[in-house]
Amino acid sequence: MHDSYFYQPALGHGLAHDPFNAIIGPRPIGWISTLGADGVRNLAPYSFFNAFNYTPPLIGFSSLGRKDTLRNIEHSGEFVWNLATRPLAEAMNQSCAAAPPEVDEFALAGVTPLASQLVQPPRVAESPVAFECSCSQIVRLKTAAGQDTDAWLILGEVVGVHIARALLKDGVYDTAGSQTILRGGGPADYFEIQPDSLFRMARPEYPPQR
Ligand SMILES: Cc1cc2nc3c(=O)[nH]c(=O)nc-3n(C[C@H](O)[C@H](O)[C@H](O)COP(=O)(O)O)c2cc1C
Repeated sequence: MHDSYFYQPALGHGLAHDPFNAIIGPRPIGWISTLGADGVRNLAPYSFFNAFNYTPPLIGFSSLGRKDTLRNIEHSGEFVWNLATRPLAEAMNQSCAAAPPEVDEFALAGVTPLASQLVQPPRVAESPVAFECSCSQIVRLKTAAGQDTDAWLILGEVVGVHIARALLKDGVYDTAGSQTILRGGGPADYFEIQPDSLFRMARPEYPPQR
């Protein structure tokens, strides 16, 4: 017998903490920079974030409620994704403060704005990787019954990629050496990618080769 705990999210989880985002974890972090209509720099982390296509490269994240990042992208159609690494963890965390739109969140987080090549929002100079993005879709998420939720999925085409040369080893991006941080569950859990957590597995062939 499979001894499992079962619950229906709509009726409550009945546990000490909602396990949902601890289970779907650790998640990559979308550390997103945008510009307000008034030119104020905005920076915020989003861990309901991932990549969805290779050609063209598409990435997306979900805004739970109408936050400044969403409003800025609706207005300008542009954003930058910045890689959050262990040396930048505290700055990333600072940038989630619910600051009013007139606050420069690069200054709040103590990071340096660096001009992008193709889009108006700056990237985080201290981050080793950044994707300049042009918004492709904004989708208001619905329930299975078709009711609107208070969440918006923001998708963007990656139009420019910056990679610190130190992370390119013979032309191959060094994920294991990147010190990328990932979001776990609970109020404060994070993981850091370490070289010793790497394992490799080739895809199977069919029919299996014996
Ligand atoms: C690691 C981390 C991940 C987060 N992920 C999300 C997320 O996926 N969606 C969301 O709406 N808020 C998320 N938040 C909260 C936002 O960062 C926070 O609401 C922030 O103030 C939004 O900034 P903005 O109004 O400038 O866009 C996260 C916070 C942290 C620290």
